[in-house]
Amino acid sequence: MTYSVGITGVGKYLPEKILTNQDLEKMVDTSDAWIVERTGIRTRHIAAPEQATSDLALEASLKALADAGAKPEELDMIIVATETPDYKYPSTACLLQAKLGARNAACFDLSAGCSGFVYAMGIGSQSIASGLYRKILIVGAETLSRILDWTDRNTCVLFGDGAGAAVLERVEEGYGILSLDLGADGTGGGHLIQPAGGSRNPATHETVDAHGHTVHMNGQEVFRFAARKMPAACKKVLQKAGMTIDDISLLVPHQANRRIIDNALTRLKIDPKRVWVNIEKYGNTSAACIPICLSEAWEAGRLKKGDNVILVAFGAGLTWAGALLKWAKESEVDTIG
Ligand code: UT7
Repeated sequence: MTYSVGITGVGKYLPEKILTNQDLEKMVDTSDAWIVERTGIRTRHIAAPEQATSDLALEASLKALADAGAKPEELDMIIVATETPDYKYPSTACLLQAKLGARNAACFDLSAGCSGFVYAMGIGSQSIASGLYRKILIVGAETLSRILDWTDRNTCVLFGDGAGAAVLERVEEGYGILSLDLGADGTGGGHLIQPAGGSRNPATHETVDAHGHTVHMNGQEVFRFAARKMPAACKKVLQKAGMTIDDISLLVPHQANRRIIDNALTRLKIDPKRVWVNIEKYGNTSAACIPICLSEAWEAGRLKKGDNVILVAFGAGLTWAGALLKWAKESEVDTIG
């Protein structure tokens, strides 16, 4: 038995504190001009000292549940995509379950780097399509500021904190997720890595002194991977759904670098007006980028029932993920119209 599955509610949360490029100029040898020209980023949000990833996830989840008209106890499963969990274990999804009071939900975290939210959508949607579950909360939440090396200008200017969430449910036949392309090339794992703190290099004074618990990235290799994989994943989901790029109302790409997004747009020959970009305000929030964009686009009235939407991401692993959805939710504008 298989059912159509789509998003019935979205929500986002960005912590209050904003860190500007000018603030970063005082911390490392960088400039606003370099950051804007090479990445498109102007500001990013930073979690307050008392906020951890599950706190950000909670705020976004409450909004997504309210948007879907769903109660926490109705949730069958919670998947949190994150590379910055509160703890190694228990999972951030379990912590979120407790905060929400979602006592009937199975919970786990998903590690697929910045592709994590779209991976969660793939796994979650299949659990509903099969008839196993009815309501699933998927979350992308990160406090990357906690694992950045604030002395490394190559990485610390790129990332921000934030969370986005969505509720997945059965939707009208023919709507919802139409095609998926999830993939990985594990041979590139070393290009984006937090080298210490796991079983390979457990935490020691030496690993801390060597900044082993922070983000290490070969930016140019990741850039090259993204430039190839983002357009390829879009083409794959279009082909699987029997559509062309002209059928797409909105493309929501992972927000890692403005130049990577522009490169993908050129290759895909899509009008930039049909692409959601907010990297200027939030930087790269990893697994949270896509649900934050979706939530923003929904709030701005840019998603109408029947719109074809592509979500596409790449990240640590190295991973990539694409999804094509026919937006299933009636907007207030649709209802009034
Ligand atoms: O979600 C996935 C996560 N990551 C990504 O998607 C990252 C993908 N990669 C990128 O976005 C880009 O490769 C970066 C933004 C990371 C770097 O841009 P780039 O154009 O590839 O710069 P580069 O690494 O080739 O560095 C060019 C120069 C270097 O100086 P020299 O060696 O030419 O003197 C860097 O040291 O720019 C220097 N540089 C900086 N200068 C000022 C690197 N970071 C900075 C900085 N401010 N923040």
